[in-house]
Amino acid sequence: MSTPAAPPTWRLLEPPSAARLDAPEAWAYHGVAALERAVALADLGHDDLPPRALDMLVGDLHPGHVRRHRLVAVEDGADGAPRVVGHGVLMLPVTDNRHLAVPRIAVLPSHRGRGIGSAIADRLRRVALTEGRTTVFAEVEFAAEPAQGAPDALAPKEGDGHVSADLPGMRFARRAGLALELVARRSVLDVPLPDDVVDRFVADAAAHAGDAYRVHTWQDPAPERWVEQLAGLERSLSEDEPNGGLELEAEQWDGRRIRDEETKRAERGKSGLVAVAEHVATGTLAGMTLLVFAHDRPELTEQDSTVVLPEHRGHRLGMLLKAVNLREHTRVRPGTRRISTWNNETNAPMLAINVALGFRPAGGAAELQAPLADVVPLSPA
Ligand SMILES: CC(C)(COP(=O)(O)OP(=O)(O)OC[C@H]1O[C@@H](n2cnc3c(N)ncnc32)[C@H](O)[C@@H]1OP(=O)(O)O)[C@@H](O)C(=O)NCCC(=O)NCCS
Repeated sequence: MSTPAAPPTWRLLEPPSAARLDAPEAWAYHGVAALERAVALADLGHDDLPPRALDMLVGDLHPGHVRRHRLVAVEDGADGAPRVVGHGVLMLPVTDNRHLAVPRIAVLPSHRGRGIGSAIADRLRRVALTEGRTTVFAEVEFAAEPAQGAPDALAPKEGDGHVSADLPGMRFARRAGLALELVARRSVLDVPLPDDVVDRFVADAAAHAGDAYRVHTWQDPAPERWVEQLAGLERSLSEDEPNGGLELEAEQWDGRRIRDEETKRAERGKSGLVAVAEHVATGTLAGMTLLVFAHDRPELTEQDSTVVLPEHRGHRLGMLLKAVNLREHTRVRPGTRRISTWNNETNAPMLAINVALGFRPAGGAAELQAPLADVVPLSPA
C-alpha cells in the first residue's frame, strides 16, 4: 500500500500590484528579486543577470509594449508573512509580436521537484490560451556549454553552440514540448581596456570608415534631432538579426518608444550611453550602439543593441561605434570591471567584432519555441 502524498506546503497566487517598493503590498517584488538572485547564484554562479525589484516594478508600471502576468508560489514564513519559493511571469508583447507568449519560471533550488514549476507552467499556459497567443518562446540560461561530445549535449536546429539536455530548465521545457531552436552566447569583456588598445581599435576602424561618417556620443536622453532615426535603427535591428527558425516579427519602433525606453531606464536608476554614426553626405544615421548601466551597480555594464543599416555595412562601422563607445564608457564609468553582452550563435559578424575586442564566452541561453497548441500540461490531471 502506498503512503498518501503529503499535502503541498505552498500555494499559488497572483501577487498584489504596487506603486512603490516601500509599500507593504510590494512584498512579492522583493521576494521574486531575492528568489531570482538565489537561483542565479546557484545555477550560474553569479548575479549579473537577475532583475532587481525596481526593474520589475517599473516594467509593470509601464506596460506600454509588453504586458506581464505574474504568479508566485508562496509558503507561510515563520513570521506569518508569505515567502516566495517560486515565480512565473508571462510576457505578452502588445505593440508587435502579438502571437507570442514568453514565460519565465523559476523555483528555489531547495523547493524543486515538488511540482511547483509544473503548476506555474500550466497556469501560464492557460493565460496564453485565453490571450489568443499562438507561439511560446522561452529561454533557459546556462553557466557553461557541455564538453564537446558529452552524451547530454544537445545541438540547436541552426547555428553553433550546445546545451546540456540534463539542465533542470531544459528537461522542464522539453517535457512541455518546446524545441531548441538556437543557442545565444553570453560574453564578458574585462574593462577598462588600456587607453592605447581602445585608441588603436578606434583608429583602425576610422581609417576604413573614412570621412564619410561622423560619430556622436551621448548619455540619455537622445538629442531630439536623432530620436526618429534611432527608432528606425532599432526597427532595422529587429528585422535583420539572424534568429534562425524563431518566429519573431520585426518590432515596431517610433520616437515615442525610444523615449519610453529612456524613461524606464531613468526610473530603474539606469542610463544608456549611445554612439551613433552619421552619414555626413545625407545627415542620416547609419548605425548605433548602446551600453546600459545601473548607477548603484558600478562594476557592471550591459552591452545592448548594436546595428549598422544594410546599405552602410562593410566600412567597419560596427567596430568603430563599439570602440568609440568603450572609450566614452571608460571616461564616464572608470570603476566598471566588466561589460556583458548576448549574441545569437547565428550572428557571426557581431560575434567576430566582440571576439576581436576581447569579449570571452561566459555561458549562454538556450532559445526554445513551440506552437502553443502543442504545449502539454505538466501537472498530473
Ligand atoms: C525549471 C524549473 C522552473 C522547474 O521547477 P520545479 O518546481 O522543480 O518543477 P517541477 O517540480 O514541476 O518539475 C521538475 C521535475 O520534478 C518532477 N516532479 C514534479 N513533481 C514531483 C513530485 N511531487 N515528486 C517528485 N518529482 C516531481 C517533474 O516530473 C520534473 O522531472 P524532470 O526533471 O525529470 O522533468 C526549476 O528547475 C528552475 O527554477 N530552473 C532555473 C530556471 C529555468 O531554467 N527556468 C526554465 C525556463 S523559463
